[in-house]
Amino acid sequence: MSVIADHAAIVHAAQLLQQGGLVAFPTETVYGLGADAMNATAVARIFAAKGRPADHPLIVHIAAAAQLSAWAETIPAAAYALAEAFWPGPLALVLHKKASVPYAVTGGQETVGLRVPNHPVALQLLQQFGGGIAAPSANRFCRISPTLAAHVEEELGAAVDLILDGGACQVGVESTIVDLSGPQPRLLRPGQISVEAINAVLHCELLLPETLQHSTQAEIRAPGMLALHYAPDTAARMYVSGELPELLTALQQSTKKIGLLHYTELTAGLMPGYVLRLPNNPEQYAQLLYSALRELDHQQLDLILIEQPPSNSLWRAINDRLSKATH
Ligand code: TXA
Ligand code: MG
Repeated sequence: MSVIADHAAIVHAAQLLQQGGLVAFPTETVYGLGADAMNATAVARIFAAKGRPADHPLIVHIAAAAQLSAWAETIPAAAYALAEAFWPGPLALVLHKKASVPYAVTGGQETVGLRVPNHPVALQLLQQFGGGIAAPSANRFCRISPTLAAHVEEELGAAVDLILDGGACQVGVESTIVDLSGPQPRLLRPGQISVEAINAVLHCELLLPETLQHSTQAEIRAPGMLALHYAPDTAARMYVSGELPELLTALQQSTKKIGLLHYTELTAGLMPGYVLRLPNNPEQYAQLLYSALRELDHQQLDLILIEQPPSNSLWRAINDRLSKATH
């Protein structure tokens, strides 16, 4: 059931969490599916609702950086520097977990992901609840993350005890994840907070996924890093804008209903079917991307064509999600 996230609803949601319930709530990135992070039974319900393998760790949401030491130990100075610079905000930090943190949350690992979300509803819920809230994105495993309460309803429906409706998420793609548990900080997932912004705070260079050894990647067990993720059910592929007319001609022989997601001007006279245009601006594009993919996915199309965004770092998180959606 979805309710407007007013004060009474937030108080009720915190009670549900205390009782081991599941509450979906808005963050600035995407909607999360929350449970009491210290309650292994409640956390197990998250995995069941999402259909997510139990060895994939969850991010624990906390109200403020002051709570870091309740969840993590041997916290490096870099963690406090990043927290100071970017929290509340779309950045998650992976640190060595405290012994008290259940393995149910960390997927059996010795590290824990932590973040302070920048959304008034999420922050009020965290304050009201008092503890940490384990929350993956509120979608079924490998599907598109929800950026509206209605998306959560569509994905998880009755599996959730309450959905707090706080409107549309402003960032639209999941948080940047930085692993600070190893000898060198490394990027696990790109997000709105850029590699450059993080490097400027750390005064060093983050290790990037493309520079890691394959074996190292496998051992990280971050589902956001699986090749197929964030995916619509409809087949999807990328195109470079100049090749569209040719591509459409070739496809019209075999493919019946085509959907198009573009951000630059279309050549006049092209009528490929169901067309959505996103803004030619990475922040606005990211905010609307998942809604657009969902809308296209509802049109019973045979194929979704997605215009390849620029490859510069401002579009890094978007390129990451699109390459996974089209794998
Ligand atoms: O923006 C976000 O981070 C959203 C909102 C709800 O906060 N949450 C989110 O959660 O995207 P989820 O579970 O869909 O993605 C969390 C990612 C996964 O790729 C997971 O593997 C990684 O964080 N992660 C969590 N804890 C980790 C750990 N200890 N080590 C490595 N990766 C971890
Ligand atoms: Mg997710």
